Amino acid sequence: MIKDSVLSGKNNPYTLSFGKQPFQNIPRLVEINEVKEAFLNEPPTHQAFMITGVRGSGKTVLMTEIRNSLNELNDWEVIELSTSQDLLLTLSQNLYEDKHFANLLKQGGGLSVLGFGIQLNGAQDSVSPVILIREALEKFKKQGKKLLVCIDEIISNKYVKEFASIFQILIRDDLPIFLLMTGLFQNISNLMDEKNLTFLYRTPQLKLRPLNLKTIADNYSSMLGVSEDNALKMASLTKGYSFAFQVLGYYTYRHKGNYNDALPEYRQYLEDYVYEKIWSELSGNDRKLLYAVAASETGRAKEIKDILGIGNNKYTPYRDRLIKKMIIAGDEYGHLKITLPLMEDFITRSYLMDNGI
Ligand SMILES: Nc1ncnc2c1ncn2[C@@H]1O[C@H](COP(=O)(O)OP(=O)(O)O)[C@@H](O)[C@H]1O
Ligand SMILES: [Mg+2]
Repeated sequence: MIKDSVLSGKNNPYTLSFGKQPFQNIPRLVEINEVKEAFLNEPPTHQAFMITGVRGSGKTVLMTEIRNSLNELNDWEVIELSTSQDLLLTLSQNLYEDKHFANLLKQGGGLSVLGFGIQLNGAQDSVSPVILIREALEKFKKQGKKLLVCIDEIISNKYVKEFASIFQILIRDDLPIFLLMTGLFQNISNLMDEKNLTFLYRTPQLKLRPLNLKTIADNYSSMLGVSEDNALKMASLTKGYSFAFQVLGYYTYRHKGNYNDALPEYRQYLEDYVYEKIWSELSGNDRKLLYAVAASETGRAKEIKDILGIGNNKYTPYRDRLIKKMIIAGDEYGHLKITLPLMEDFITRSYLMDNGI
């Protein structure tokens, strides 16, 4: 039974683009609750979270969802910052120049820094952004308000390091500032290597696991009119990878509910859009290990080490790194598997091509 809208091929409910809130959303209930509970607890159990996961796993979408749901609460204000800008300066400018915030800060009298209302234009050079941010937060605290700062795609640059070191002072001083960041493993680990940013070690990481397969199947069967059986097969073809969920839905919709016909486009889109990029960011040794995992029949350490002709001392660190990047996962017996759908074949092909075989 195929729906009329599917047959007409219009208004595809699935999306191929990153960074926007998708219409078809498989909720990440656990992660959302974890952050909200920690932030809303009195006193908060954490004031920062780092969302990590492979490209396309849904970091930006999750951050936006948490941000929106906190923004709906009365006491919460949110600001999104970009790592390409001076974070402290932009934050202070936002707080004092944005009408909404300026109004909030005006309520109940002026600010002590300059005696009364602040004009950033002229004062910007003389009053440091940190002092202004602190002032604003003291004010928020008195009003029972909380400020959530969101930073997508964290990297280790001057602005981020500066911001992180001030942030840890602000939370130490009990000010109501909260931080939600997303980042790829390698960028986060570069940032954590900075000596004075110890708070990052205490910042809990939300590792994005696969989406719930049953919920994916239910979504496919209701949106695409496919049978329950086929919907489950489709769900397992995505391995719960967020981007794959959209791409398979998108092309199956285009093929009027026939997912088998959608498979060639599904595979190609994943490869061209994400796997190429992921592959290009891996070191030679990472690639080699991935190749061995893809080529192995059992995923067992012994078989993989045999394929590579290496010992434990080399195997363990490369394995751990790929697990942290969330490209491979170990099951309960320690057997390694590739986490992304249809990637084994891509890995084998790319590795053999790289090596001119
Ligand atoms: N919870 C979700 N349910 C359904 N689709 C999702 C979900 N999270 C992400 N997606 C889809 O996956 C793709 C990648 O999401 P995005 O958040 O941009 O990934 P990341 O920031 O980790 O690279 C987008 O097409 C998005 O629509
Ligand atoms: Mg993103």
